[in-house]
Amino acid sequence: MTGRPAPQSSRERQETTMRPVDSLVFEAVSHCGNWVCRAVRQWERIAGVNVQNRLRVGVVGLGFAGRTALEAFSELPDVEVVALAGLEKGTLTSLGEKHDVPHLYERWEDLLETDGLEAVSIGTPTQLHAPIALKALEKGLHVLCEKPLARTVAEGTAMVEASKKAGRVLNVVFNHRERGDVAVLKHQIDEGLLGRVYYAKAHWMRRNGIPGMGGWFTNRELSGGGPLIDLGVHILDLALHLLNEPKVNTVSANTFAELGPRGRGSAVPNANTLGSAFEVEDLATAYLRLDGGGALQLETSWATYRAPGDNFGIELFGTEGGAKIEVQNYSNVDTLRIFTDVGGVPAEVKPATGAGLGHRAVVQEFVKIVQSGDWAAHNGSEALVRTEVIDACYASAKAGREVVLNG
Ligand SMILES: NC(=O)c1ccc[n+]([C@@H]2O[C@H](COP(=O)([O-])OP(=O)(O)OC[C@H]3O[C@@H](n4cnc5c(N)ncnc54)[C@H](O)[C@@H]3O)[C@@H](O)[C@H]2O)c1
Repeated sequence: MTGRPAPQSSRERQETTMRPVDSLVFEAVSHCGNWVCRAVRQWERIAGVNVQNRLRVGVVGLGFAGRTALEAFSELPDVEVVALAGLEKGTLTSLGEKHDVPHLYERWEDLLETDGLEAVSIGTPTQLHAPIALKALEKGLHVLCEKPLARTVAEGTAMVEASKKAGRVLNVVFNHRERGDVAVLKHQIDEGLLGRVYYAKAHWMRRNGIPGMGGWFTNRELSGGGPLIDLGVHILDLALHLLNEPKVNTVSANTFAELGPRGRGSAVPNANTLGSAFEVEDLATAYLRLDGGGALQLETSWATYRAPGDNFGIELFGTEGGAKIEVQNYSNVDTLRIFTDVGGVPAEVKPATGAGLGHRAVVQEFVKIVQSGDWAAHNGSEALVRTEVIDACYASAKAGREVVLNG
């Protein structure tokens, strides 16, 4: 255990420095909401009000992921965050006070022993996703796990099997599909506006955004890989979600490590964390053949010589139209364009889209599913498909040839 404050990752820094106005307003509103929720909780305890119908949740992790989940759970009136765990003592205490969390632990193992706990949210380095989820499911808890599901297919499969065996929910946080632009585009695709989408290109590219150089992100054992498993899993999820979950038949990938090993490409050099030197890729590209004849190209990098920024997006080419989402530095404004013909003339539509709820939508959906009692379909298998594709990409890059996926 270290008493140091949580190191600030580049992602977190960018999230805090490049936020659009609407998200700042949203944060201000939610801050007031949190304060009201906290006051109500304190009053209820003093007054002995029955709070038994609330879902009792524990949150593991105090970094960007853990804090985002904690905020989202804390603002729900039918949830009580009863436990919080993380290694940064100061952050643990201050977050515990801010959200009125009664049980604070440094170790996740202790959090799982909390009396009456019903669900756990995992926001730890990726190598801990499987151990925490397996133990939690074995104890009959529902699990919300950060992306990626796991480092490998073997770990992910064990988690899905454990969810099925326990009959408990295992959901994974794919928050970008909860953006407003993605929701509008998904609706248009489902309505047939693009016809049959036969080709898609998705990217997440950073100029200078290796997270926590020398920390767990750049340590293969702790993270499972570089931008492909970190950012690539998000854009793969976006693509498969928008295309209505086509089966991936083959992948052909390349990975490169050109800047990271030479100490370049890190927005926030961080010598103070666990882990070791740069051991993963800093750029990956993959070509996926999809069932039904379609194709998907992925391109992702934490650091490469290109225009500045932290940009992701997807381009879709269909028989009746096309579409493009381009998100620069996490913006929510003017990100979606739809390409069509009007009276036989090429035309472009820019639908008005809101920001969407992102992580908050994922947390709300998780709580809704758990409270519904209808858990069987929520066992992490969709997330496992993403892990299978990522695993196959790494295998393809290593072997220098196309890899065929089973199943
Ligand atoms: N969905 C998203 O947009 C998003 C964004 C960032 C990170 N993530 C994912 O969330 C996870 C965490 O990322 P992060 O950036 O928050 O990492 P981080 O390094 O900032 O935080 C990790 C947290 O885990 C805690 N931890 C580590 N070992 C522990 C232990 N034994 N017991 C209890 N707590 C322990 C640390 O103390 C720390 O608070 C990763 O899997 C990452 O891929 C997702």
